[in-house]
Amino acid sequence: MNSPFKLIHFTLVSALLVASWGTLATAAQPAKEKAVTEAKTETAAQPQTAIAGSEVNPFNRLMRVVPKRHLPPTQDGIHDPTNDSTQMLQTPLEAFSGLPKSQGDFGNGVDWVKALNESKIDARWDRNDPKAKPVIMDLSIVREVKGSMPGVGFPHKQHTQLLDCSNCHPAIFIPQKGANQISMAAIMLGQKCGVCHGTVAFPVAECRRCHDKAKPVAAKAPAK
Ligand code: HEC
Ligand code: HEC
Ligand code: HEC
Repeated sequence: MNSPFKLIHFTLVSALLVASWGTLATAAQPAKEKAVTEAKTETAAQPQTAIAGSEVNPFNRLMRVVPKRHLPPTQDGIHDPTNDSTQMLQTPLEAFSGLPKSQGDFGNGVDWVKALNESKIDARWDRNDPKAKPVIMDLSIVREVKGSMPGVGFPHKQHTQLLDCSNCHPAIFIPQKGANQISMAAIMLGQKCGVCHGTVAFPVAECRRCHDKAKPVAAKAPAK
């Protein structure tokens, strides 16, 4: 696909990425008084469900202290708190309010697919043309999984509502059913689906959003 599209999608994906920074930010910065009051009201609005830091053994790398989520830009450790423009940025909680929540509140806690389908957000397809419409491809590819885990349905529809074909083909996936070897290990290492899921799209923790193809129940022995 041509490069202007790529750029748009990169812009969109970075927007989603910025939206999810709250979960990635680690250390909170020492902040100005104004910012501190802001943070207090924010935590009150959304009670923290994460494990309190003091209960976690800090030496266990598998049980990291869960960082505070969705901090305002002045405290997120990414933006420069001494820059006046940082004060002008919308806080994540303000941006997320009114958007449908994802089940389990993982990632940034927003169900972006629902938000788009309910017209709560409006994804711009072409930076230069606010009226341009995406090229949506409604093709699902089912990948069977051995064992008790339901199979994975990869929906082109939800992806092409937001992304261009060239975001995935051919760099991440060869466009041919079954031509790509995908495993959970690769995804968790940030490859294949994991290039986006866990970074700019809902994370691995939401198993059932990908593993949604229930297996047929094993036939019962005929009654005699
Ligand atoms: C988010 C990533 C992503 C995007 C965006 C995407 N695809 Fe795909 N596509 C996939 C995956 C994953 C497969 C399955 C590959 C496999 O089974 O190994 C696939 C498979 C295909 C196939 C093979 C179908 C078959 O039955 O063999 C075609 C053709 C294809 N895509 C075309 C497109 C086109 C055209 C677009 C843009 C309109 C697009 N894809 C956008 C990820 C994507
Ligand atoms: C972003 C989508 C996605 C999410 C979220 C996801 N999976 Fe997967 N999973 C896949 C894909 C794709 C495969 C590979 C299917 C195949 O063999 O082609 C897979 C494969 C598997 C397999 C088969 C063995 C393996 O490692 O490949 C198991 C078991 C599994 N997933 C469990 C889980 C569990 C448990 C969760 C939640 C903690 C989860 N998955 C979340 C997409 C996902
Ligand atoms: C190029 C980035 C990218 C890649 C690669 C990618 N996804 Fe996604 N995916 C997204 C985005 C963006 C969304 C929509 C935002 C969200 O739901 O967080 C999405 C949404 C989805 C949804 C829709 C869930 C719903 O509620 O309708 C499923 C299912 C899904 N992805 C599965 C997969 C699987 C399985 C793979 C790998 C085969 C994959 N994705 C690879 C970016 C990607």
